[in-house]
Amino acid sequence: MLKAICSGKDLSSTSFYDCVSDIISCPELSRLKGITHHICTTRFQHSLNVSYYSYVVCRFLRLDARSAARAGLLHDLFYYDRKTYNASRSKGQPSHSSMHAAVALKNACAVTDISKLERDIIAKHMWPVTRPVPKYRETYVITVIDKYCAILEFCVPQLKKASPARIVTLIGTKSSRRM
Ligand SMILES: [Fe+2]
Ligand SMILES: [Fe+2]
Repeated sequence: MLKAICSGKDLSSTSFYDCVSDIISCPELSRLKGITHHICTTRFQHSLNVSYYSYVVCRFLRLDARSAARAGLLHDLFYYDRKTYNASRSKGQPSHSSMHAAVALKNACAVTDISKLERDIIAKHMWPVTRPVPKYRETYVITVIDKYCAILEFCVPQLKKASPARIVTLIGTKSSRRM
């Protein structure tokens, strides 16, 4: 079943799926299922999370939700390891933040036709860490959703791991310290 984080919906039977059905199963995206991303998830699942929630927000705001879904799915389409890149990075080479967005755009163009809007989203999704400034409102939406999903992807597994008994113990310890 195709699911986004914190959503119980089977995305394969939604209007969202219609926007990405031609690219979601391509080998270039499937390869991301084997790459860890944000410590607790895969790069594919992160891309799906960003794609789905960007679609939902853009549709609510009456923006181009289809482009947001497609660019969201392709925004982190790169395969190199961040730590390896940073370790071997020489002076003058772009930062990982700039580099992976540029690589993702190049790879996305090899997968499907990319519109100007989708290009802006993929190339600038790291704003404000990177420059230049986004040109479209949809790009701003993705910059926020990307960070929101990264926080969820890290925090939700930690909360799931913590048993109710441990949470009660932690709260009890903090309360008794205050007394
Ligand atoms: Fe990214
Ligand atoms: Fe991302």
